[in-house]
Amino acid sequence: MPYLLNKIKGPIGVFDSGYGGLTILKEIRKQMPEYDFLYLGDNARTPYGTRSFEVVYEFTLQAVVRLFELGCPLVILACNTASAKALRSIQQNDLPYLDSSRRVLGVIRPTAESIGEVTKSRHVGILATSGTINSGSYPMEIKKLYPDIKVTGVACPMWVPLVENKEFGSDGADYFVKEYIDKLLEKDSEIDTIVLGCTHYPLLIDKIRKFTPEGIKIITQGEYVAESLKDYLRRHKETDSRCTKSGECQFLTTESVEKFKESASIFLHEDVSVRSITLG
Ligand code: DGL
Repeated sequence: MPYLLNKIKGPIGVFDSGYGGLTILKEIRKQMPEYDFLYLGDNARTPYGTRSFEVVYEFTLQAVVRLFELGCPLVILACNTASAKALRSIQQNDLPYLDSSRRVLGVIRPTAESIGEVTKSRHVGILATSGTINSGSYPMEIKKLYPDIKVTGVACPMWVPLVENKEFGSDGADYFVKEYIDKLLEKDSEIDTIVLGCTHYPLLIDKIRKFTPEGIKIITQGEYVAESLKDYLRRHKETDSRCTKSGECQFLTTESVEKFKESASIFLHEDVSVRSITLG
């Protein structure tokens, strides 16, 4: 689909399979309040974490195309699963046909970059969806930057459903939070840094802290992704000049507006303006 108006200006698109990307959006808006954002949550088809490579790629591409159609010059995949399974293909195979002047960025690289400064033992744990863990993207990205770091991952298939169903504060959640942390530390007891490699997980942070031994640092991604985006736009003036800056933020969901509004207010602590769309 060739875009004729490829010098169009618009908001920065932020995409996630559901609500998780709101934890990234919140940090980005904190650090870049003057920019406009358009958030898209594919809530009707969440979770992505247990889906195949082909399906995650297809759904993510549909979202990127829609955000481009709505005028976004730049789209952030605020979802590790989509970043792990679709980013490279979209950048290499689809962007040249869609519009080579637009950009799509992910969240794994900025997170991997942050690790080197934090770990002292050089043993790092990754907690993420099955899709992200099975893709091997974190060990691959971290090894490229810091070959001396040992990376161990554990998939936490119950955590996204706990968050999407607003069970992150419940007593029932304790069992599953503890289970995956214990499993990770059993695999490598020298881990001193744990990366929450899924944008939903910061909602479970109180429980994750409760079951993580003192002295182990827990890394959430929002701050690193926001810093990296700011730096990217400083270095890429052409893209930056196409990002509109009125401090506005709008939301799209593939589920019902009411459901999204209710959950978004838990993540963002504000009322949001939402429209429902269909993808695919
Ligand atoms: N928030 C997504 C991530 O960062 C995963 C959620 C899902 O499984 O859909 O990986």
